[in-house]
Amino acid sequence: MKPLLRAALRTILILLGLACVWLTLAKLLRRFLNFPAPAALGSYLDSDVRRFLQPPRPIIERSGIERGMNVLEIGCGSGAYTAHVAQAVGAEGTVAALDIQPAMLAQLEAKLSRPEYRSIENARLYVGNACALPFRAVAFDLVYMITALPEIPDQNRVLAEVRRVLRSGGILAVTEFFPDPDYPLRRTTVQRGQRAGFELEGIRGSFWTYTVRFRKHHRAGIGWPPNVLQADAVPGR
Ligand SMILES: C[S@@+](CC[C@H](N)C(=O)[O-])C[C@H]1O[C@@H](n2cnc3c(N)ncnc32)[C@H](O)[C@@H]1O
Repeated sequence: MKPLLRAALRTILILLGLACVWLTLAKLLRRFLNFPAPAALGSYLDSDVRRFLQPPRPIIERSGIERGMNVLEIGCGSGAYTAHVAQAVGAEGTVAALDIQPAMLAQLEAKLSRPEYRSIENARLYVGNACALPFRAVAFDLVYMITALPEIPDQNRVLAEVRRVLRSGGILAVTEFFPDPDYPLRRTTVQRGQRAGFELEGIRGSFWTYTVRFRKHHRAGIGWPPNVLQADAVPGR
């Protein structure tokens, strides 16, 4: 084997090994310590390095975000993607950006007041908990979460809330990014969504950064209490 090829293979193996060690240590740590990403990390989350590694355009495209949609971003943090999404849905659409930490939203608010974003009028910020969303049912066409779902301890509760606020046929897009200490494998994210009653629509991206897109069932009656369906189905009762 040529020395150059050997060196390249060795580098790849070392990088893969370091990635495995990081993931294992981070998972162990997060099992015992559960807290939201500190607001002090806001400037890293919304930085040029982050945008180089995880550019907004492909995430918007993979998530199925389109002009005119009313979308909800859960766990928006300092807003690395919010302004881009607001521009993508255009003036006919809206973005509701929700986070549990007021200090994160303050950074997003400051960002939106900068001259280059001042023309954005379709983004609203909400302090709130994803486990009890402060929105009415069937309010949104699409909900997206970027490196936010696995950080929340009661993910089933969050997914039930997402189902409630999505219109029938609406989309849930979950994007993950490898260095995130809460990074789940794609199959974990897929199983989580399907168990919560979502239909898998597609998986795009790579191991390092992927988006899983789910759809809320179109069919009427899904999610109705079974006793209502049974009573209706038995003639003469
Ligand atoms: C890793 S950060 C990602 C922020 C942003 N999505 C990004 O990619 O830059 C996760 C965010 O989820 C928020 N978060 C954690 N638990 C939450 C909850 N229960 N409800 C709403 N937001 C939550 C945190 O405050 C944090 O801003």
